Amino acid sequence: MTHSIQTTMLSDGTDLAALRDEEGRSLSGRLFSDAEIFELEQQRIFASTWIALAHESEIRRTGDYVVRRMGLDPVIVSRNQDDSVHVMLNSCAHRGMQLCRVDHGNAHTLVCPYHGWAYGLDGVLAGTPHEEEIYRGRLSRERYALKKARVEIFGGWIFANWNPEAPSLDATLGDHRWYMEMLLCRSDGGQEVLAPPQRFVVNANWKLIVENFSSDHGHIGTTHRSLVDVGLFPEVRGHSSTTSNHNGHSMLHNPQLDHEPVSGGPLEDLKAHPPAAMPSELVDQLKNHLNEEQIWVLANRYPTTGAIFPSMAWVVFAPFPAGDQLSSVFTVRLFFPISPDRTEMLSFAVAERDASDEFKRLVLRATTFAFGPSGVFEADDLENWSGMQRSLGGVINRRRTHVYPAVREPDNSGWPGPGEIHQGTWSDAVQWNMYRKYFELMTD
Ligand code: FES
Ligand SMILES: [Fe+2]
Repeated sequence: MTHSIQTTMLSDGTDLAALRDEEGRSLSGRLFSDAEIFELEQQRIFASTWIALAHESEIRRTGDYVVRRMGLDPVIVSRNQDDSVHVMLNSCAHRGMQLCRVDHGNAHTLVCPYHGWAYGLDGVLAGTPHEEEIYRGRLSRERYALKKARVEIFGGWIFANWNPEAPSLDATLGDHRWYMEMLLCRSDGGQEVLAPPQRFVVNANWKLIVENFSSDHGHIGTTHRSLVDVGLFPEVRGHSSTTSNHNGHSMLHNPQLDHEPVSGGPLEDLKAHPPAAMPSELVDQLKNHLNEEQIWVLANRYPTTGAIFPSMAWVVFAPFPAGDQLSSVFTVRLFFPISPDRTEMLSFAVAERDASDEFKRLVLRATTFAFGPSGVFEADDLENWSGMQRSLGGVINRRRTHVYPAVREPDNSGWPGPGEIHQGTWSDAVQWNMYRKYFELMTD
């Protein structure tokens, strides 16, 4: 493989790779605040790998679309007449005018507000005003189509990629798919998002946020301590572990929070204490979609939080006290970097599609109560993220390092799944795994 040193050099002569000390497990603060590095991330990550954009249930009907971003490029995610899903630049092929100017909608064609060029929901040029008179059949529908990205769907989530050479989404998920199936692909009817996403901007670099979601167990007892103190959340007891998978993906596993296992095996246990956002009457369907090992993990080492690198994460709690009822929390998070120190987040509440309306209402309420801009958990986290970023404003702070020294050897003993398992609560393995992938993309 050819490796261009030129392309890893920053304009002041610093080699990007030197901003990571693999041996000393540290990263330069510059990675979180530098405009040139942010621009490289746009090219080498957000324009080159699979980016999660939307859930299929957001565009259920023909003509539905939502507007999202891949890096800084605005894109339309649409459902065409033949039910196919498309992701294309939200920018007219004529002179680049923004086509869709609202967050979401439904349309038969996408008409440019500037000169009126019209496109199908698959991005192909459908027509222009006075077309015959002006162009006399010479206007190529394909040549003047909207620029389209590759699209793949996993667990109902729509991913897109500008890079024609990139491996498939499946290959990119690799072993991590085994874990994500437990959360996203486990019932006959699949899942849906329960409302349009909450959107908010955090004054922090996107990596600081993703590394937290990716499995930072270490902050729960400090940052979120007050939630346990006032009785809003049970103490996490027993055995935790994290899974690091290829390509920077990760997952944190906790014991079930509030009960001892019931007899009869994992499936019976899950019927008594269902996974987040899944009503007990659907639990039997788990065996239609997951194997015994996956069901064991779901029952005994509950997936609690994790991330699909680079820009998708989730947190689930079951059960969670919501007012006077117990409900469960299932938030999926998409991250859209805006600048080195600002990130837009979309926060979704998710449940099994075949759950009752009343059950979905409880999940939506509990998820919004815990996460999102007004969530009792997230309010704590927001302060951490923006507090770290504030400290990066100065020259000296940008020169100091972020350290990830909690190192343990992987220990997969007794573990039925793939990946590297790190036992216990305190580990920086998952975060370091994420940055390994980050540097692979950024310096290759
Ligand atoms: S820019 Fe869209 S029609 Fe001219
Ligand atoms: Fe947190």
